[in-house]
Parts: sequence; structure tokens; C-alpha cells
Amino acid sequence: MTARAIELRTEYLVDPLGIGETTPRFGWWVEDERPGARQTAYRIRVASSPERFSGDAPDLWDSGQIAGDEQAQIPYAGAALGSRTRAHWDVTLWDADGVAGPSSAPATFEMGLLDRADWSATWIAAPIMEAGQTLPPAPILRRTFALAHPIRHARLSITALGLYEAHLNGQRIGDDYFRPGWTDYHVRLHYQTYDVGAHLHQGANAIGVLLGDGWYSGRVAHLERGLLYGERPALLAQLEVMHDDGSVTRVVTDDGWRWSEGPIRRQDLIEGEEYDARREIDRWAEAGGDEATFAPVLTQAWPDVPLVAAPNEPVRVVRELVPIAEPRRFGAGWGRIGYLFDLGQNVAGIVRLAVRGPRGATLRIRYGEMLAADGTLYTANLRSARATDAYTLRGDAAGETWSPRFTFHGFRYAEISYHERWDGELAPFDRTTVTGLALMSDTAETGTFECSDPLVNQLQSNIAWGQRGNFLEIPTDCPQRDERLGWTGDAQVFVATAAFNFDVAAFFTKWIQDCDDAQGPDGRLPEVVPRLLGQQDGGPGWSDARVVCPWAIYGAYGDERILARHYPAMRQWLEWQAGSARDGIRPWEGCDYWPGFSDWLALDNGWQSTIGATPRDLLGTASFAHSADLLRRIATLLGHDADAARFAAFRETAVAAFNREYVTAGGRLAVQTQTAYLMALAWDLLPEPLRQPAFDRLLGLFAERDWHLSTGFLGTPLICATLTRFGRADLAYRIFLQRDYPGWLFPVQNGATTMWERWNSWTPDAGFGDVNMNSFNHYAYGAIGRWMYDTVAGLALDPARPGYRHVLIAPQPGGGLTHARATIRSIRGPIASGWTIDGATLRVEVSLPPNVTATVTLPDGTTRELAAGHHVVESAVGSRQRDKP
Ligand code: BGC
Repeated sequence: MTARAIELRTEYLVDPLGIGETTPRFGWWVEDERPGARQTAYRIRVASSPERFSGDAPDLWDSGQIAGDEQAQIPYAGAALGSRTRAHWDVTLWDADGVAGPSSAPATFEMGLLDRADWSATWIAAPIMEAGQTLPPAPILRRTFALAHPIRHARLSITALGLYEAHLNGQRIGDDYFRPGWTDYHVRLHYQTYDVGAHLHQGANAIGVLLGDGWYSGRVAHLERGLLYGERPALLAQLEVMHDDGSVTRVVTDDGWRWSEGPIRRQDLIEGEEYDARREIDRWAEAGGDEATFAPVLTQAWPDVPLVAAPNEPVRVVRELVPIAEPRRFGAGWGRIGYLFDLGQNVAGIVRLAVRGPRGATLRIRYGEMLAADGTLYTANLRSARATDAYTLRGDAAGETWSPRFTFHGFRYAEISYHERWDGELAPFDRTTVTGLALMSDTAETGTFECSDPLVNQLQSNIAWGQRGNFLEIPTDCPQRDERLGWTGDAQVFVATAAFNFDVAAFFTKWIQDCDDAQGPDGRLPEVVPRLLGQQDGGPGWSDARVVCPWAIYGAYGDERILARHYPAMRQWLEWQAGSARDGIRPWEGCDYWPGFSDWLALDNGWQSTIGATPRDLLGTASFAHSADLLRRIATLLGHDADAARFAAFRETAVAAFNREYVTAGGRLAVQTQTAYLMALAWDLLPEPLRQPAFDRLLGLFAERDWHLSTGFLGTPLICATLTRFGRADLAYRIFLQRDYPGWLFPVQNGATTMWERWNSWTPDAGFGDVNMNSFNHYAYGAIGRWMYDTVAGLALDPARPGYRHVLIAPQPGGGLTHARATIRSIRGPIASGWTIDGATLRVEVSLPPNVTATVTLPDGTTRELAAGHHVVESAVGSRQRDKP
């Protein structure tokens, strides 16, 4: 038996095409079933063709035999990689005995167009311009072209200001949505590369592209269309066809393209899409198609921003959902007839319709996350988002199917209606009429969590669906209302949980760059990234995403480059924080910058208030101390020792100010909120002798509320981890498992299938919460997921050895659970940790892949060191388990 590399990745992706990293990093899993398996050396070979590679002298890079167990984040160190370079690579591993195994199956990566000079395309657009609230049709841009020689391979490099969907010879290219994605188009634009050789042939060909407004010229949050970036979409495309004889044909966007309106009559991400199938243009993306309605395009200047290869996964359909029951029909003859479909799951995405009816009949499709008390669709919480699609039938006798392209909605229920008098009679709708298509940045699912309490399992499902519904190009707050923004606070509390559930390395590689792009010249990070209009500052707990997110990605994936690359921006951000403090306190009373969103939605100021009772200066000072500490660690790691000392001093100043302003000599805080105590304890802001008294007081605050939380976005993620750390996991369980309001399981108990924005977004007594701020798909409170993985199941990262090089397995059984188990497909391979209670015995099962070690700490305090393999260890259930405080 030997060791072999599998699951090869370049820049976190499988065989990526058109990348922009000129020093791409490699990673793999080690396949070696033997207990204790370890890689002792590796050799990477990179060649520009499979032939060059099979010999012993690959032309791009041969790392030679390198001792060690590195298997991730290994930078390419060969010949310079130019635009379009296609590289084939493999790995050979040496096992624990120093024996070399067979080389891996080869992987590939290909460089994109690295320089502006590589592009000979011109920006083109259709002269469709609508102002304000009016939604424009989606133009079709098209070009026919001839290929004189047989084709070896072909690449399409393409982007838009707006959204594009490309077709070649009648076939859609790729299965992505909303490309090129959302960056701050004033600062950076992404493009994509597709392998399109199979779509082309010698002779006459055609390319057709649909253009949507998307974030570029459509509505963004409450802003009307055209306000944020530009007024209409534009396209840039470059098709490069390599022929067998070595010649190249380039087909680029230029003034030879033609445009027409088509069947998409209106479109907007937030408002919805209207499609008139009677206006479809026959063979619109095929040579010989009808060009009668097409007119010459406009050309326009290059936007003055870098054009960069997208580093993240595209948005794709990640789940298809069939309605859980036959639709409910409402309305009667000669009026509006409607059907209400229930997908059984709140999602972000679109529907696919399969209908049959008269030509010209128009279906209106509305979406909602909940039903009103009378059983009708509830849409009040969408605020100004119209979230309505329309489909006008062609009238095919065999039926027709449709789904929108340039919109998405947050919904569990879809209501389809038509007017019987005007539209005529349609074939009756049933469960097959609607399929829900959940859209998400196609990040791989990596984590599972399961335990003996079905409500907790549903909570885990809700957290994962919260992530599915909101990790769409950027981490958004919610997918349904007129918001859908990259709220920094929400992202920073959730990032660690996110990295358990899905592989978010490439996703955050992209968004952390967005943070750089959004940062003001003075170092402030706005509350949403990409930024909206004006110079903004997120304030405490929001702008801290600046350091918390890169640190979390480093922890989960061992990505040191993300720290190094964004270090200057992080430092600038921290310096701004320090400079804006007074006597160590920030924000201070009357300061001239945004004091923050407080402990957003905390209940301790009365539930009508969105601002919690914990004062912003306390939250800000505590957060600053914490972020200064994180950046100190980052600076140390990167070897910036002088900075590290400076940041340590920042922290000391903040800690001193915190103690001076908010702490009594007896260890009480001047502010009696759970969040104030949680921050003081979680981030070690108190002198040692005051910690236990403060912790006891925190317990008192929980006891006063009969072991319920009163915290908001910032305090909530700290509760269970802090109680556990101070030895009271039993009380963490007690609060965690409350079935009644407020707590994690209250929404679950009330039928939630995603995380709600508020603990009382809906209650049996009061019905719906405040419609102004009432999302049913808001992952922030899902930040508890991390504790479920690392403490309940006991699968924890070791901050000292990030990227799962070493894991800390210290399950804390409690809450009456009889078993719990978590798995993660980590960057170093699959890891599992689980336990079962059998009478007085706790049985802990751990599996580790090669190269990963673990320290297991059992409830009785004993520890074991484990290496690769499957392990079962047993102990007495342990004294740490207590049922009552
Ligand atoms: C968003 C939140 C966000 C908050 C800032 C809300 O509108 O939905 O999730 O963090 O504003 O306080």
C-alpha cells in the first residue's frame, strides 16, 4: 500500500479556467487507508501539455521532492505563467515509511487574459434606457461568424456591466446565473472564461447574448435603478478559436454586432421578470436566424477599472424542490384564478413553470416566505420589492416551460394567477406545474451536524438553508426584501459557522477583496460591502468584519496569503479605529462618526427597539480591543513585530479604558446587559480576579430571564461559547434548548425552515413582527452553528495549527442529548467526531484523514493524541454534566 493524492485543487477550485492568480496555490487530499498515515514528502509537476508532463522534465515546474506534510496552500514556483497558459499538474507523495506512491490523476488550470492588451474586444450596448422605476426589456446582442478551419479548442472570455447569459449556436454556455457577479463596478469588474469548443463547428456560427440590468443598472436595495453604477447594461466578449493548423480566429464584440428586443420584457433582480413567449425570436443565437428586428449596437468606452478573472464559484441551481402538496386553488370563474404552491422550504431562487394554455394568456407569479392568517400569500415584509414575475404563453399544444434569468426571490410559497375572462382556460395546475430552483454561489457542502434532538437537527438545516439563501455572490443579510446587501456585521458573526457548512474559501477570497475595494481612503469600512452611495462606516461589530473574516478563513483553510494580501488594508482600518478613539473609548459621546448599530435587535430595550440597551461606546471599545488583538496575532504571524507591539498597545489602552469606564471594583459592569458581560468575558477584558464574579453576575442576568437570552446580533454568538469556556456548558445547553421565546428553537418550534431575523418574527400570539424589518431568511443568529460543531459534537479548529492540521476534539455532552456527530470535508480531508451516551459510558468516535492529528479531551479530563484512522475512546459520562444551575 502507498499514498496517493486525490481531490486536487488549484486556488480552491477543480480544474479552473481563466484564472488571474499568477502564483496559483495547489492543494490535495492524501489517500492512504493505513492507521497513522502521513505524507512525508511531495513532488508537484506542472507542464504545458500532457505529453511534456509524462516525461521526467515538465516544462513549467518540477518542485522536486519536498519533505513535509504540506498539502494545501502550496504556491506554484515555476516558469512565469502568461495569459492563456494551460497547465497540467500532478503530485507524487511519499508515505510515512518514505516510500513514493503512484502519481495522482492529473489536474489542470488555465490562465485567463492577464493584460488589458489581451483584449481586442470593444464594449457594446443596446440603446435601451429607462429611468427611475420603469423596468427595461433585456436586449439580445448577436453576431454571426464563419470558422474556416477545423477547431482544436475555443475559449469565450466574457463580462458585462450588468448580467449576461451567452449562447452559441442555440445552446446556452454554462449553467451559471447572474454573471459576471457583483463587485463594486466603480473599482473592479470580473470576467469569466468558458470552454466552448464543443459548441462550435467549421462553417457558419452565431453567438447571442442576453443582457440584464442586475446590480449594475437595476435596483440595489432601496435605490432606484440606474443610481448606483450605470444606466444600462453593456457587454464585452472575446471568443478565441484555436484551429488544428495553429491559426486563431477571434470573434469579439464590436460594431458589427446587432441587437434587438426579445421576449424578456422587463427584468430586475428585486422587482422580478416579465417574459412574453410570443416575442421569442426564432433561432436568435443561430446562424441563419431571423435578423429582421436587429439593429446595429452602440459601442462605448472601456470603463476605467481593472478587468479581473473572477476567483469565486458561480451562482448555480443547487437544489430543485417539488411542492410538498397539490397547489391550493382560489378564485372562481370570470375572475382571477390562482394557485398557491408550497415548496416546504424557504429558499432564495426562482421557479420553473410547466404550463399549457392559450397563446397570450399571462400568468402572474408572486412570492412569499409566509402565509397570512387567512391562508393567502404574505408579502408585507418584502417592503418595496415587487418580487413578481409574469409569463405570457406561446400557446404550444404540447405545453411550455419557463424560468426567469435575471431575477431571484426569497420564498417558500409561489402564487400563480391568471384572469379567466381575459386569459382563457389553462390546463389545471398540479404539483408538477412548479419546481423551485434554489440559487446559491456554488460552494461545496462540507459540513454535517446531527444529534438526538430533532428540533436541533431542524435548526442545523435552517442554518444551512440560511447560508444557501444568502451566499449569493456576496454574503447578504436576506434574499427577499428590498435589501439583499453585504452587511458586514452579519457576515462577521456568521463566517466561522459558514466555513463548517460549506467550502467558503473562494467565496470569501472574493468578498474580502470587495472589502478592500469598499474601504474608504481613511480606512473606514462601510456597513455594506460592496458599498452603496457615499462614504460610510459600519461602526462597531460591523466594520470588524475587516479583520474577523480574513482571520476565520485563515483558521479554517490555513490561508496565510489572505492575511498577507489584505494586511495593509486591515492595518489602515485599525489605525483609523485607534485614531478615532478618545481616551481609549470609541465611539465617544458626540463623536463625528457613525457610532454603530449597537447590539442590533437585542431585546433588552424593549422589543420594538432595534437598538439594544448595551451602549455603543461599550460595544465599540470592547470590539476594538478584540479586533486589535486579532490583528496583533496576524501581524505576529506575518512577521510584522513592530506592528504587533503597536496593536498590543492599542488593545491595552482599550482594555484600560473599558475597565475605567464600565467596571466597578467588585467586578460588576456599569451596564447590566448580557451582551456587556459576554464581551468582557469572551475577550478577556477584565483582570483575572474579576472574571469569576463577573461571570456569576452574567449567570444572574440569565437567571433573571429564566435562562433566556436578551442579546442581539453581537451578543448572541458569544453566549454558548462563553458559558462553555467558564465551565458551564450545562447552562449553555439550557439556554440553547429553550423551546419558548426567545431562543433558537422557538422559530423551529413554529415551523421555521430558515433562520429568522428576529426571535419573534412570527409568534402564535402576536402574529407577524414589525414589517419594516422582518426577514424569514437572515442567517445572523445561525452563528450558533459553530458552537454546535465545536462544542456539542466536539469538532473544533486548533487556532495554533489552522486549516485542520490539528483538531481539538472535546465534546461536551449535555442538555439530555444522547448522541451528536459532526463531519467536515476539510481542506485536509474528511474528519468526523461524534459521541453516544450508553448508560454511564460516553463513547467518542473520531475519524481523521492522513496528515491530520487530534487531541481528544474527554469529560473526565483525560486526553489522548490521535493520528489518521478511526478511533473509539470511552470514558465515564463525567462530572461536567449538570442539569440544573
Ligand atoms: C439588515 C441587518 C443589518 C442591519 C444593520 C438591517 O437592515 O438586514 O441584517 O446588519 O440592517 O443594523
